[in-house]
Amino acid sequence: MPNTIIVGAQWGDEGKGKIVDFLTEDTDIVVRAQGGNNAGHTVIHDNKKYVLHLIPSGILWPEKKCVIGNGVVIDPISLLEEFDNLQQQGIEITPENLVISNRAHLTLSYHRVLDSYRESGLGGKKIGTTGRGIGPTYIDKAERSGIRMADLIDQGKLSEKIISKVDKANSVLQGSEAETIDSNEIIDQIKTAAERLKPFVTETTTYLHEQIIAGKSLLFEGAQGTYLDIDHGTYPFVTSSNTTAGGACTGSGVSPRSIDNVTAVAKAYTTRVGSGPFITENQEFSDRMHGMGREFGATTGRKRRCGWFDAVLVRHACRLNGADHLALTNVDGLDGIDTIKICTSYELKGETIHTPPANSEDWDLCTPIYEEMAGWVDQITAGAPDIATMPEKAKAYLDRLSELCETPIRIVGVGPDRKETLLRD
Ligand code: IMP
Repeated sequence: MPNTIIVGAQWGDEGKGKIVDFLTEDTDIVVRAQGGNNAGHTVIHDNKKYVLHLIPSGILWPEKKCVIGNGVVIDPISLLEEFDNLQQQGIEITPENLVISNRAHLTLSYHRVLDSYRESGLGGKKIGTTGRGIGPTYIDKAERSGIRMADLIDQGKLSEKIISKVDKANSVLQGSEAETIDSNEIIDQIKTAAERLKPFVTETTTYLHEQIIAGKSLLFEGAQGTYLDIDHGTYPFVTSSNTTAGGACTGSGVSPRSIDNVTAVAKAYTTRVGSGPFITENQEFSDRMHGMGREFGATTGRKRRCGWFDAVLVRHACRLNGADHLALTNVDGLDGIDTIKICTSYELKGETIHTPPANSEDWDLCTPIYEEMAGWVDQITAGAPDIATMPEKAKAYLDRLSELCETPIRIVGVGPDRKETLLRD
Protein backbone atom coordinates (compact mmCIF):
# COMPACT_ATOMS: atom_id res chain seq x y z
CA MET A 1 0.00 0.00 0.00
CA PRO A 2 1.21 3.57 -0.61
CA ASN A 3 2.33 5.66 2.36
CA THR A 4 -0.95 7.15 3.55
CA ILE A 5 -1.96 9.87 5.97
CA ILE A 6 -5.36 9.57 7.65
CA VAL A 7 -6.75 12.87 8.93
CA GLY A 8 -10.02 13.92 10.50
CA ALA A 9 -11.94 16.43 8.36
CA GLN A 10 -14.15 17.76 11.20
CA TRP A 11 -13.62 18.20 14.97
CA GLY A 12 -12.25 14.75 15.73
CA ASP A 13 -14.14 11.54 16.53
CA GLU A 14 -14.81 10.95 12.84
CA GLY A 15 -14.10 7.22 13.18
CA LYS A 16 -10.46 7.42 12.08
CA GLY A 17 -9.48 4.49 14.31
CA LYS A 18 -11.82 2.21 12.44
CA ILE A 19 -10.60 3.38 9.02
CA VAL A 20 -7.00 2.93 10.13
CA ASP A 21 -7.84 -0.55 11.36
CA PHE A 22 -9.48 -1.32 8.01
CA LEU A 23 -6.43 -0.12 6.03
CA THR A 24 -3.86 -1.70 8.33
CA GLU A 25 -4.27 -5.08 6.68
CA ASP A 26 -2.35 -3.75 3.66
CA THR A 27 0.24 -1.69 5.51
CA ASP A 28 3.38 -2.54 7.46
CA ILE A 29 3.74 0.24 10.02
CA VAL A 30 1.17 2.46 11.77
CA VAL A 31 2.46 5.82 13.04
CA ARG A 32 1.03 8.37 15.50
CA ALA A 33 2.59 11.81 14.99
CA GLN A 34 0.72 14.36 17.14
CA GLY A 35 -1.60 14.83 20.08
CA GLY A 36 -1.53 12.71 23.20
CA ASN A 37 -3.95 10.75 25.33
CA ASN A 38 -6.61 13.38 24.61
CA ALA A 39 -7.34 11.11 21.62
CA GLY A 40 -9.66 8.16 22.02
CA HIS A 41 -9.88 5.71 19.17
CA THR A 42 -12.52 3.03 19.52
CA VAL A 43 -11.88 -0.02 17.38
CA ILE A 44 -14.01 -3.14 17.16
CA HIS A 45 -11.72 -5.92 16.04
CA ASP A 46 -12.77 -9.57 15.86
CA ASN A 47 -15.92 -8.70 17.86
CA LYS A 48 -13.91 -7.24 20.75
CA LYS A 49 -13.96 -3.55 21.62
CA TYR A 50 -10.67 -1.72 22.22
CA VAL A 51 -10.25 1.92 23.24
CA LEU A 52 -6.84 3.30 22.35
CA HIS A 53 -5.44 6.65 23.43
CA LEU A 54 -1.73 6.78 22.66
CA ILE A 55 -0.94 3.46 21.05
CA PRO A 56 -1.59 3.24 17.30
CA SER A 57 -4.44 0.89 16.44
CA GLY A 58 -2.03 -1.26 14.37
CA ILE A 59 -1.16 -2.89 17.71
CA LEU A 60 -4.25 -5.08 17.31
CA TRP A 61 -2.55 -6.82 14.36
CA PRO A 62 0.15 -9.31 15.39
CA GLU A 63 2.40 -8.77 12.34
CA LYS A 64 2.33 -4.97 12.27
CA LYS A 65 4.72 -2.44 13.75
CA CYS A 66 3.61 0.72 15.54
CA VAL A 67 5.46 3.98 16.07
CA ILE A 68 4.73 6.81 18.50
CA GLY A 69 6.54 9.70 16.83
CA ASN A 70 8.34 12.79 18.08
CA GLY A 71 5.28 15.04 17.70
CA VAL A 72 3.21 13.05 20.21
CA VAL A 73 3.06 14.11 23.87
CA ILE A 74 3.21 11.10 26.15
CA ASP A 75 1.87 10.67 29.65
CA PRO A 76 4.07 7.72 30.73
CA ILE A 77 1.73 6.60 33.50
CA SER A 78 -1.29 6.61 31.24
CA LEU A 79 0.69 4.86 28.49
CA LEU A 80 1.55 2.04 30.87
CA GLU A 81 -2.09 1.75 31.93
CA GLU A 82 -2.93 1.37 28.26
CA PHE A 83 -0.26 -1.35 27.96
CA ASP A 84 -1.83 -3.19 30.90
CA ASN A 85 -5.40 -2.87 29.62
CA LEU A 86 -4.45 -4.15 26.19
CA GLN A 87 -2.40 -6.97 27.67
CA GLN A 88 -5.42 -8.00 29.76
CA GLN A 89 -7.36 -8.18 26.48
CA GLY A 90 -4.73 -10.53 25.08
CA ILE A 91 -2.70 -8.01 23.02
CA GLU A 92 1.07 -8.45 23.33
CA ILE A 93 3.11 -5.21 23.41
CA THR A 94 6.84 -5.60 22.93
CA PRO A 95 9.69 -3.54 21.45
CA GLU A 96 9.15 -5.73 18.36
CA ASN A 97 5.74 -4.21 17.67
CA LEU A 98 5.99 -0.77 19.29
CA VAL A 99 8.70 1.88 19.25
CA ILE A 100 8.55 5.30 20.88
CA SER A 101 10.47 8.43 19.86
CA ASN A 102 13.19 9.67 22.19
CA ARG A 103 12.16 13.21 21.13
CA ALA A 104 8.52 12.94 22.23
CA HIS A 105 7.64 15.30 25.09
CA LEU A 106 6.33 14.01 28.42
CA THR A 107 3.04 14.96 29.99
CA LEU A 108 3.38 14.76 33.76
CA SER A 109 0.85 15.23 36.53
CA TYR A 110 1.60 18.96 36.90
CA HIS A 111 0.52 19.48 33.28
CA ARG A 112 -2.87 18.01 34.11
CA VAL A 113 -3.21 20.22 37.19
CA LEU A 114 -2.25 23.29 35.13
CA ASP A 115 -4.75 22.30 32.42
CA SER A 116 -7.64 22.28 34.95
CA TYR A 117 -6.39 25.46 36.60
CA ARG A 118 -6.29 27.34 33.27
CA GLU A 119 -9.74 26.09 32.31
CA SER A 120 -11.22 27.12 35.66
CA GLY A 121 -9.80 30.62 35.12
CA LEU A 122 -11.53 30.98 31.76
CA GLY A 123 -15.05 31.05 33.24
CA GLY A 124 -17.59 31.12 30.41
CA LYS A 125 -14.82 31.04 27.79
CA LYS A 126 -13.58 27.54 28.66
CA ILE A 127 -12.03 25.55 25.79
CA GLY A 128 -13.60 22.39 27.20
CA THR A 129 -10.28 20.53 27.10
CA THR A 130 -10.03 16.83 27.85
CA GLY A 131 -8.13 17.76 31.05
CA ARG A 132 -5.22 15.51 30.07
CA GLY A 133 -2.55 18.25 30.31
CA ILE A 134 -2.06 18.45 26.55
CA GLY A 135 -1.99 22.26 26.22
CA PRO A 136 0.50 22.81 29.09
CA THR A 137 2.80 20.10 27.65
CA TYR A 138 2.89 21.79 24.24
CA ILE A 139 3.39 25.15 26.02
CA ASP A 140 6.55 23.72 27.61
CA LYS A 141 7.65 22.36 24.23
CA ALA A 142 7.23 25.77 22.54
CA GLU A 143 8.80 27.50 25.54
CA ARG A 144 11.74 25.10 25.20
CA SER A 145 11.54 23.91 28.77
CA GLY A 146 9.87 20.54 28.18
CA ILE A 147 11.05 17.13 29.36
CA ARG A 148 11.41 14.51 26.65
CA MET A 149 11.52 10.72 26.47
CA ALA A 150 15.31 10.90 26.10
CA ASP A 151 15.50 12.67 29.49
CA LEU A 152 13.32 10.00 31.05
CA ILE A 153 15.59 7.25 29.81
CA ASP A 154 18.88 9.00 30.62
CA GLN A 155 17.68 10.03 34.07
CA GLY A 156 20.89 12.09 34.52
CA LYS A 157 19.20 15.44 35.09
CA LEU A 158 15.63 14.16 35.24
CA SER A 159 15.04 14.87 38.94
CA GLU A 160 16.55 18.34 38.65
CA LYS A 161 14.36 19.17 35.67
CA ILE A 162 11.21 17.89 37.36
CA ILE A 163 11.93 19.83 40.57
CA SER A 164 12.39 23.02 38.58
CA LYS A 165 9.18 22.50 36.57
CA VAL A 166 7.17 21.61 39.68
CA ASP A 167 8.44 24.69 41.53
CA LYS A 168 7.31 26.83 38.64
CA ALA A 169 3.90 25.11 38.49
CA ASN A 170 3.44 25.53 42.26
CA SER A 171 4.20 29.24 41.99
CA VAL A 172 1.50 29.58 39.30
CA LEU A 173 -0.97 27.64 41.47
CA GLN A 174 -0.15 29.55 44.67
CA GLY A 175 -3.26 31.02 46.26
CA SER A 176 -5.59 28.91 44.11
CA GLU A 177 -7.69 25.98 45.28
CA ALA A 178 -5.47 23.51 43.41
CA GLU A 179 -3.36 21.16 45.53
CA THR A 180 0.38 21.78 45.75
CA ILE A 181 2.32 19.34 43.58
CA ASP A 182 4.91 17.06 45.17
CA SER A 183 7.96 16.60 42.94
CA ASN A 184 9.25 13.55 44.87
CA GLU A 185 6.03 11.70 44.19
CA ILE A 186 6.36 12.39 40.45
CA ILE A 187 10.04 11.40 40.43
CA ASP A 188 9.31 8.05 42.14
CA GLN A 189 6.41 7.31 39.85
CA ILE A 190 8.18 8.05 36.64
CA LYS A 191 11.45 6.35 37.51
CA THR A 192 9.51 3.11 37.77
CA ALA A 193 7.74 3.93 34.50
CA ALA A 194 11.10 4.65 32.87
CA GLU A 195 12.33 1.13 33.59
CA ARG A 196 9.36 -0.38 31.78
CA LEU A 197 9.44 2.06 28.86
CA LYS A 198 13.20 2.04 28.24
CA PRO A 199 13.26 -0.91 25.82
CA PHE A 200 10.69 0.80 23.58
CA VAL A 201 12.41 4.17 23.22
CA THR A 202 14.53 4.82 20.16
CA GLU A 203 15.33 7.26 17.38
CA THR A 204 12.13 6.66 15.45
CA THR A 205 12.95 9.02 12.55
CA THR A 206 15.94 6.91 11.52
CA TYR A 207 13.88 3.78 12.12
CA LEU A 208 11.18 5.06 9.75
CA HIS A 209 13.73 6.11 7.09
CA GLU A 210 15.23 2.63 7.17
CA GLN A 211 11.81 1.05 6.86
CA ILE A 212 10.95 3.26 3.85
CA ILE A 213 14.22 2.26 2.16
CA ALA A 214 13.36 -1.39 2.86
CA GLY A 215 10.09 -0.86 0.93
CA LYS A 216 7.74 -0.98 3.91
CA SER A 217 4.53 1.03 3.80
CA LEU A 218 3.42 3.54 6.43
CA LEU A 219 -0.01 4.55 7.63
CA PHE A 220 -0.21 7.76 9.67
CA GLU A 221 -3.04 7.68 12.16
CA GLY A 222 -4.16 11.28 12.70
CA ALA A 223 -5.61 12.24 16.05
CA GLN A 224 -8.32 14.90 16.61
CA GLY A 225 -9.48 16.66 13.42
CA THR A 226 -8.80 19.54 11.03
CA TYR A 227 -10.89 22.08 12.97
CA LEU A 228 -8.98 21.34 16.17
CA ASP A 229 -5.70 22.22 14.41
CA ILE A 230 -3.80 24.95 16.27
CA ASP A 231 -3.38 26.94 13.01
CA HIS A 232 -6.34 26.00 10.84
CA GLY A 233 -8.99 25.16 13.42
CA THR A 234 -11.67 27.22 15.14
CA TYR A 235 -9.07 29.06 17.23
CA PRO A 236 -8.97 29.42 20.21
CA PHE A 237 -11.29 26.40 20.59
CA VAL A 238 -8.66 24.00 19.30
CA THR A 239 -6.08 21.55 20.57
CA SER A 240 -2.37 22.38 20.70
CA SER A 241 -0.94 20.41 17.79
CA ASN A 242 -1.14 20.42 13.99
CA THR A 243 -3.81 17.86 13.32
CA THR A 244 -3.72 18.45 9.55
CA ALA A 245 -1.70 16.35 7.09
CA GLY A 246 1.53 18.37 7.46
CA GLY A 247 1.62 17.44 11.16
CA ALA A 248 2.17 13.81 10.17
CA CYS A 249 5.50 14.78 8.57
CA THR A 250 6.80 17.15 11.26
CA GLY A 251 5.60 14.80 13.98
CA SER A 252 7.43 11.78 12.59
CA GLY A 253 10.42 13.14 10.66
CA VAL A 254 9.13 11.56 7.43
CA SER A 255 9.46 13.91 4.47
CA PRO A 256 6.38 15.06 2.49
CA ARG A 257 8.12 13.47 -0.54
CA SER A 258 7.50 10.06 1.00
CA ILE A 259 3.73 10.56 1.25
CA ASP A 260 1.65 9.06 -1.55
CA ASN A 261 -1.90 9.47 -0.36
CA VAL A 262 -4.07 11.44 2.05
CA THR A 263 -7.45 10.11 3.13
CA ALA A 264 -9.71 12.52 5.02
CA VAL A 265 -12.28 10.95 7.32
CA ALA A 266 -15.64 12.63 7.96
CA LYS A 267 -18.84 11.53 9.62
CA ALA A 268 -22.00 11.58 7.50
CA TYR A 269 -23.13 14.32 9.91
CA THR A 270 -21.09 16.49 12.32
CA THR A 271 -20.11 16.18 15.98
CA ARG A 272 -17.85 18.05 18.35
CA VAL A 273 -16.92 17.83 22.03
CA GLY A 274 -15.84 20.82 24.06
CA SER A 275 -16.73 24.44 23.42
CA GLY A 276 -16.52 26.52 20.28
CA PRO A 277 -18.41 27.31 17.10
CA PHE A 278 -20.60 24.67 15.50
CA ILE A 279 -22.82 26.18 12.83
CA THR A 280 -24.97 23.13 12.05
CA GLU A 281 -25.49 22.02 15.67
CA ASN A 282 -29.05 20.83 16.23
CA GLN A 283 -30.56 19.85 19.57
CA GLU A 284 -33.22 17.54 18.14
CA PHE A 285 -30.59 15.74 16.07
CA SER A 286 -28.27 15.47 19.13
CA ASP A 287 -31.10 14.02 21.25
CA ARG A 288 -31.86 11.48 18.55
CA MET A 289 -28.21 10.34 18.40
CA HIS A 290 -27.87 10.09 22.20
CA GLY A 291 -31.20 8.27 22.34
CA MET A 292 -29.73 5.69 19.94
CA GLY A 293 -26.76 5.30 22.36
CA ARG A 294 -24.42 7.01 19.89
CA GLU A 295 -22.04 9.92 20.25
CA PHE A 296 -20.55 9.66 23.71
CA GLY A 297 -16.81 10.57 23.88
CA ALA A 298 -14.33 7.66 24.03
CA THR A 299 -11.89 9.58 26.29
CA THR A 300 -14.13 11.52 28.68
CA GLY A 301 -17.55 9.90 28.15
CA ARG A 302 -18.96 13.39 27.49
CA LYS A 303 -22.03 13.67 25.26
CA ARG A 304 -20.88 14.91 21.86
CA ARG A 305 -22.69 17.88 20.35
CA CYS A 306 -24.32 16.79 17.07
CA GLY A 307 -25.60 18.45 13.89
CA TRP A 308 -26.00 18.19 10.13
CA PHE A 309 -23.16 17.64 7.67
CA ASP A 310 -21.27 20.86 7.06
CA ALA A 311 -19.87 20.79 3.50
CA VAL A 312 -18.16 24.18 4.00
CA LEU A 313 -15.92 22.59 6.62
CA VAL A 314 -15.27 19.30 4.89
CA ARG A 315 -14.57 20.84 1.45
CA HIS A 316 -12.05 23.23 3.00
CA ALA A 317 -10.52 20.36 5.01
CA CYS A 318 -10.10 18.30 1.83
CA ARG A 319 -8.22 21.17 0.17
CA LEU A 320 -6.14 21.95 3.23
CA ASN A 321 -5.05 18.34 3.68
CA GLY A 322 -4.72 17.59 -0.05
CA ALA A 323 -7.18 14.74 0.39
CA ASP A 324 -7.17 12.19 -2.43
CA HIS A 325 -10.30 10.57 -1.02
CA LEU A 326 -12.86 10.87 1.69
CA ALA A 327 -13.91 8.08 4.01
CA LEU A 328 -17.47 8.77 5.17
CA THR A 329 -18.34 7.02 8.42
CA ASN A 330 -21.54 6.53 10.47
CA VAL A 331 -23.87 6.70 7.46
CA ASP A 332 -26.11 4.31 9.44
CA GLY A 333 -26.59 7.10 12.02
CA LEU A 334 -28.90 8.77 9.47
CA ASP A 335 -31.06 5.67 8.92
CA GLY A 336 -34.75 6.47 9.35
CA ILE A 337 -34.53 10.28 9.15
CA ASP A 338 -37.19 11.77 6.82
CA THR A 339 -35.38 14.82 5.56
CA ILE A 340 -31.64 15.29 5.78
CA LYS A 341 -30.04 18.73 5.72
CA ILE A 342 -26.63 19.60 4.28
CA CYS A 343 -24.99 22.95 4.96
CA THR A 344 -23.55 24.24 1.66
CA SER A 345 -22.45 27.78 2.66
CA TYR A 346 -22.74 30.29 5.51
CA GLU A 347 -24.32 33.67 5.70
CA LEU A 348 -22.10 36.24 7.42
CA LYS A 349 -23.13 39.89 7.74
CA GLY A 350 -25.45 39.66 4.73
CA GLU A 351 -22.91 37.87 2.51
CA THR A 352 -22.70 34.23 1.47
CA ILE A 353 -19.32 32.71 2.30
CA HIS A 354 -17.90 29.36 1.20
CA THR A 355 -14.88 28.99 3.49
CA PRO A 356 -14.64 29.09 7.30
CA PRO A 357 -14.00 32.52 8.88
CA ALA A 358 -10.89 33.19 11.00
CA ASN A 359 -12.36 35.01 14.01
CA SER A 360 -14.54 33.54 16.72
CA GLU A 361 -16.59 36.78 16.61
CA ASP A 362 -17.40 36.07 12.94
CA TRP A 363 -18.14 32.43 13.69
CA ASP A 364 -20.74 33.60 16.20
CA LEU A 365 -22.47 35.64 13.48
CA CYS A 366 -22.51 32.91 10.81
CA THR A 367 -25.75 31.09 10.02
CA PRO A 368 -25.99 27.94 7.92
CA ILE A 369 -27.47 27.86 4.42
CA TYR A 370 -28.95 24.41 3.90
CA GLU A 371 -30.14 22.24 1.11
CA GLU A 372 -32.38 19.28 1.89
CA MET A 373 -32.42 15.72 0.62
CA ALA A 374 -34.95 12.97 1.13
CA GLY A 375 -33.78 10.47 3.75
CA TRP A 376 -34.01 6.69 3.46
CA VAL A 377 -36.83 5.54 5.71
CA ASP A 378 -37.92 2.21 4.18
CA GLN A 379 -34.54 0.50 4.19
CA ILE A 380 -31.52 0.88 6.48
CA THR A 381 -27.85 1.12 5.58
CA ALA A 382 -26.69 -0.52 8.85
CA GLY A 383 -24.94 -3.76 8.08
CA ALA A 384 -25.23 -3.36 4.27
CA PRO A 385 -22.77 -5.84 2.74
CA ASP A 386 -21.80 -3.53 -0.15
CA ILE A 387 -22.56 -0.18 -1.72
CA ALA A 388 -24.83 -1.72 -4.38
CA THR A 389 -27.32 -2.95 -1.76
CA MET A 390 -27.56 0.41 0.03
CA PRO A 391 -30.83 2.36 -0.37
CA GLU A 392 -30.85 4.53 -3.52
CA LYS A 393 -31.44 7.67 -1.43
CA ALA A 394 -28.36 6.92 0.66
CA LYS A 395 -26.33 6.48 -2.54
CA ALA A 396 -27.67 9.84 -3.78
CA TYR A 397 -26.56 11.40 -0.47
CA LEU A 398 -23.02 10.04 -0.97
CA ASP A 399 -22.95 11.39 -4.55
CA ARG A 400 -24.03 14.83 -3.38
CA LEU A 401 -21.50 15.02 -0.54
CA SER A 402 -18.73 13.93 -2.88
CA GLU A 403 -19.72 16.68 -5.30
CA LEU A 404 -19.99 19.38 -2.61
CA CYS A 405 -16.64 18.40 -1.07
CA GLU A 406 -14.96 18.13 -4.50
CA THR A 407 -13.46 14.82 -3.37
CA PRO A 408 -14.40 11.23 -4.17
CA ILE A 409 -15.84 9.16 -1.31
CA ARG A 410 -13.96 5.85 -1.49
CA ILE A 411 -14.76 4.30 1.88
CA VAL A 412 -18.17 4.20 3.55
CA GLY A 413 -18.88 3.13 7.14
CA VAL A 414 -22.29 1.62 7.94
CA GLY A 415 -21.59 0.16 11.39
CA PRO A 416 -18.88 -0.19 14.02
CA ASP A 417 -17.35 -3.47 12.81
CA ARG A 418 -14.51 -3.68 10.28
CA LYS A 419 -16.85 -5.76 8.08
CA GLU A 420 -19.20 -2.78 7.94
CA THR A 421 -16.67 -0.71 6.02
CA LEU A 422 -17.50 -0.65 2.31
CA LEU A 423 -15.42 0.32 -0.71
CA ARG A 424 -17.00 2.63 -3.30
CA ASP A 425 -15.78 3.07 -6.90
P1 IMP B 1 -7.20 19.34 24.60
O1 IMP B 1 -6.66 18.71 23.37
O2 IMP B 1 -7.47 18.38 25.72
O3 IMP B 1 -6.39 20.53 25.03
O4 IMP B 1 -8.67 19.94 24.24
C1 IMP B 1 -8.84 21.00 23.29
C2 IMP B 1 -10.10 20.77 22.49
O5 IMP B 1 -9.92 19.65 21.63
C3 IMP B 1 -11.35 20.46 23.32
O6 IMP B 1 -12.49 20.98 22.65
C4 IMP B 1 -11.40 18.94 23.29
O7 IMP B 1 -12.70 18.44 23.52
C5 IMP B 1 -10.94 18.68 21.87
N1 IMP B 1 -10.34 17.36 21.67
C6 IMP B 1 -9.12 16.95 22.03
N2 IMP B 1 -8.91 15.68 21.65
C7 IMP B 1 -10.01 15.28 21.01
C8 IMP B 1 -10.37 14.07 20.35
O8 IMP B 1 -9.62 13.09 20.26
N3 IMP B 1 -11.62 14.05 19.80
C9 IMP B 1 -12.45 15.13 19.83
N4 IMP B 1 -12.15 16.27 20.43
C10 IMP B 1 -10.93 16.35 21.02
